[in-house]
Amino acid sequence: MDSQNLAYSITQIVHNFGAVAVVGGAACALAWRDTDVQRRLAWLVLIGWLTQAASGATFGAISFYYYAKLPDIHGIAVGALVIKVLCAALGFTLAARQLFAQLAEASRRYTWFALCGLGALALSSAAVLRWFS
Ligand code: HEM
Repeated sequence: MDSQNLAYSITQIVHNFGAVAVVGGAACALAWRDTDVQRRLAWLVLIGWLTQAASGATFGAISFYYYAKLPDIHGIAVGALVIKVLCAALGFTLAARQLFAQLAEASRRYTWFALCGLGALALSSAAVLRWFS
């Protein structure tokens, strides 16, 4: 078995489930408004964004390990990757704010919309990154 493909596949599995966690978790929180459930979903989304950043970086690390350089991407692909990184940073911050800041109900709800939107933007950027690299 090709160890490089195995490493990429495992990382992609983790990355895909992280994407489900950030988008699905925020979408569920918009529908399911019980306080305890919202808190658990905030943890899920927080861990999901962290997972995306870590597994995203792992793609680069695998490439570096096997080729001693990062993937050769340009133009639109770089833009899509930067958007994903910014989404992960902002998503992590907003999810942590849901958990640890005292927020009014309306503000908490707007934040879930923002988290859902960031997840959708990151997913869309993933498609652009995939086909422009
Ligand atoms: C620091 C943040 C991130 C980095 C560095 C990163 C990096 C990457 C890389 C290198 C790939 C492989 C691209 C290729 O196939 O050529 C990838 C794929 C993917 N990423 Fe990310 N990513 C990040 C965040 C996210 C987020 C937040 C989401 C979704 C919410 C996401 C969803 C996906 C999906 C769905 C794929 C598979 C695309 C496909 O093959 O069709 N990523 N990511």
